[in-house]
Amino acid sequence: ENSRQKQLVELHEQAVKLYHHILTNTKMGEAALAYLHKRGVSDETITTYQLGYAPAQRLLKPFFDERHVDYQLLRKSGLFSEDEAGNLRDRFVDRVMYPIRNGSGQTVAFSGRLLTTNPEMPKYLNSPETETFNKRKILFNLDLARTNIRNQQPAILFEGFMDVISAYQAGIKSGIASMGTSLTEQQIYDIKRITRDVVICYDGDTPGQKAIKRAIDEFSHHDTNLNVKVVSIPNGMDPDEFIRSKGADDFNKLLTHAQAPVEFELNYLKKQYNLNSEVDQSRYIAEAIKLISQVNSGISRDLYLNRLADEFSVDKSLLQQQLTPLLKKTP
Ligand code: UTP
Ligand code: MN
Ligand code: MN
Ligand code: MN
Ligand code: MN
Repeated sequence: ENSRQKQLVELHEQAVKLYHHILTNTKMGEAALAYLHKRGVSDETITTYQLGYAPAQRLLKPFFDERHVDYQLLRKSGLFSEDEAGNLRDRFVDRVMYPIRNGSGQTVAFSGRLLTTNPEMPKYLNSPETETFNKRKILFNLDLARTNIRNQQPAILFEGFMDVISAYQAGIKSGIASMGTSLTEQQIYDIKRITRDVVICYDGDTPGQKAIKRAIDEFSHHDTNLNVKVVSIPNGMDPDEFIRSKGADDFNKLLTHAQAPVEFELNYLKKQYNLNSEVDQSRYIAEAIKLISQVNSGISRDLYLNRLADEFSVDKSLLQQQLTPLLKKTP
C-alpha cells in the first residue's frame, strides 16, 4: 500500500470522527440520533460501527480546509463532488453515515442513508469508486466478523448493512454484506479463505428471493465444495425487521433450519407454475428433476425424488427414468 492510499484512509478516519461527533454530541445530530434509536440501534452499536451524521450544512470541506489538506487528495477521496470550475462540495448531505471498512479494518468509503426516504433520491448513497474503494471487492463487516467465522460460525451473508448491524447487536456476529451489488467472484474468494460454511440470508421480499437465486448460482459456478445454506425470512420481512420484531432466539432458529440450496430452488421454481393445471405439473416435475440431478449425494437425490413422487402421487420409477440420463458421469 502506497502513501497516497494511507492518506486516503487517514482522511476517511478523520471524517468518521467528525460525523460521529456530530451525531452523538451536537444539536445538529439530534434528529439522526433519534432516528437510529427509533430503529432500535443502541448507543453501544453506534460506537462499535462509528455511525455518524452528515448534516444539511456542508461541514467536511471547511473542516479539511482549516487543516490545509491537499486539494488533489480531497478530489481523489470520493467524499466530495466537483463542479466544472473544480470546486469541491461535501457529497453527503443530511444523511446517516455508515463507515465502510475493508478487511483490514481501514475505512475506505461511506454509505449515507436518508432519514426519510424520498423517491427523488437514492435511499443509500455510496462513495464512488476510488483508489482504495472497489465495491465489488468489499464485504461489509468482514473485519469484525472474521474471528467469529474462524471460531466455527458460518459466514452469514446479508443483503443490507442494517441487517448485519442488527444481527451483530443481537449477538450474531458473523454477518457480512456486499455493497448493494450481486455477489462477486472476489467476494466468494475472500469468504472461502476463512470458511466453507455460508448461510445466505437475504430479504424475504421478491427482490431478495431473486437475489438468493443469483447468489446460489454464483456459489455453484465458483465452488462446489462450499457448504451453502439458505434462510428464508417469512412474511416478506428483512433480517433486521425480523430480529427487531421476533428477537434473536427466533432468528437463531431460522438459522438452524436453513435449507439446502436445492430445496430453496424447488420452492422458488414451484411458485412459477400453476400447479392446478396438469400441463404445468408435468413441466414443474421435469424442471424439478433437472435440479435434483445436480445434487451430488445419491442419497439426497433419492430423498428429493421420494418427496416429488409423494407430492404429485406419481410412480417414483418414472421419475427415476427421467433422472438417470441427466446424472453427471462419475469418473
Ligand atoms: P435494502 O433496501 O434492502 O436496504 O437494500 P435495507 O438494508 O433494508 O435498508 P433500510 O432497512 O431501509 O435502512 C439492501 C442494500 O442495497 C444497497 C445497500 O447496500 C443496502 O444495504 N442499496 C439500497 C443501495 O446501495 N442504494 C439504495 O438506494 C438502496
Ligand atoms: Mn441514547
Ligand atoms: Mn432489499
Ligand atoms: Mn432490506
Ligand atoms: Mn431493512
